[in-house]
Amino acid sequence: MTNQRSPLVIGNWKMQGSLALNASLVHALLALKNVSVAIAPPLVYLATTRQQLVGSAIKLAAQNVAAEGQQGAYTGEVSARMLADVGVHYGIVGHSERRQYYGETDALVAKKFIRLQEQGIQPVVCVGESLAEREAGQVEQVVSRQLLAVIEQCGIQALANAVVAYEPVWAIGTGKTATPEDAQAVHRFLRQLVGSYDKNIAENLSILYGGSVKADNAASLFAMPDIDGALVGGASLVATDFLAICHAAKASLVG
Ligand code: PGA
Repeated sequence: MTNQRSPLVIGNWKMQGSLALNASLVHALLALKNVSVAIAPPLVYLATTRQQLVGSAIKLAAQNVAAEGQQGAYTGEVSARMLADVGVHYGIVGHSERRQYYGETDALVAKKFIRLQEQGIQPVVCVGESLAEREAGQVEQVVSRQLLAVIEQCGIQALANAVVAYEPVWAIGTGKTATPEDAQAVHRFLRQLVGSYDKNIAENLSILYGGSVKADNAASLFAMPDIDGALVGGASLVATDFLAICHAAKASLVG
């Protein structure tokens, strides 16, 4: 039951970028070596970004996926099969912005998770509480409800090929990061929750932290035993900042 986890950093560009901006950002990242990194550009840019990443170990992630199926009459949707076709490795599901602005429920998140795994794409399931929920002492209740929805729909084995991201909603894009100790407490809780089903899967599960991860707080987060990397929003759009976070991840591996 040895720990196979090595840090992973995923840059979530959200609805930001352009052909020109993306090209310069990707160019700056190509020098990255010996650290697991993925970037999630808007869906429309995935194929172009893949071409720019040829020869690099940086993987491609999708920010969203259709829940309904792999093809069919679903105007405006993009299926997991299409994502796999353009070389996507990870798919983010359950991001709080999708839960909040697009009404995505735990059940829908689980469906999207299944669609991704059907195509061999690793889901990155986001969980996290709002400020009101934190203040009401409901952190564990909320994150366990969100993760259990996936475990109950997909089975615990599904987490052997998935990543979890703990993203407290109050820390996303606000500049407020959870302290490393507060984040660690939730990460440990999530790992124990998974461990109550399967210890080996829990031990090998990568649990990323997300929410205002920056160059200057990354190392202290990565030093925590149950924080296995980061899902980075704002700072992933600034090459020097994202590179610094990736280097902190690499240093935590050797350190
Ligand atoms: P942030 O976003 O780093 O800008 O807080 C994180 C996320 O939403 O994944």
